[in-house]
Amino acid sequence: MADSATAPARRADLAEVGAQASICERCPHLVATRTQVVFGAGDPDADLLFVGEAPGADEDTQGVPFVGRSGRLLSELLAGIGLSRDDVFIANVLKCRPPENRNPSAEEIAHCAPWLMRQLELIEPIVVVTLGNFATRLLREDTAGITKVRGAAEIRTIGPRTVRLLPVLHPAAALYTPSNRALLEADFGLIPDLIAAGPPPQEQAVAEPEPEAPSVVEPAEDSGDQLGLF
Ligand code: URA
Repeated sequence: MADSATAPARRADLAEVGAQASICERCPHLVATRTQVVFGAGDPDADLLFVGEAPGADEDTQGVPFVGRSGRLLSELLAGIGLSRDDVFIANVLKCRPPENRNPSAEEIAHCAPWLMRQLELIEPIVVVTLGNFATRLLREDTAGITKVRGAAEIRTIGPRTVRLLPVLHPAAALYTPSNRALLEADFGLIPDLIAAGPPPQEQAVAEPEPEAPSVVEPAEDSGDQLGLF
């Protein structure tokens, strides 16, 4: 359970944000090809938030993230640490399916990121697990690839929230290369202790400094000389 005393309000806000996202038209070419927006699913109070890449064909049809083959593996990996999909929240970097399952573009990611930031703000997870390169690069704000950083948990402030971030391989990587499953299992094995460690101290939002009054040289009275202003 997340730690805020305002959980009911956050739940209501998350539902409202989901309703707004469902009619999002920031990427007209994705609007034209999507069946529906796949906002996310699970417990809005979850301690554990997964962030994948983008909906595929099954997700686009059903409106739920990770319901295809990758999703089945995700459920198995969760079961391996005593959790089910209902215990966690699952979201993606992109809420709309890119046609032909192509990679998300930088522009699409930029358009869609504010929805993910609102999800982080309202769910208040302790642990965020990024699945694969796109989520990892976005939330670490770094170009390091997933094979380099997987399994290395770190404390990160992501937009409004300081979390324990754990990058892991995308489950699809184990569908293509079965030996990757052992790496995923090992990294999922880190999750229970990360949750048990509790939320890291939240970074206080730094107040924007008041803009300094421009230093204007007052013209000498009646001098008629404006040149000192410029
Ligand atoms: N792959 C993803 O990254 N997300 C999904 O929702 C499904 C497959």
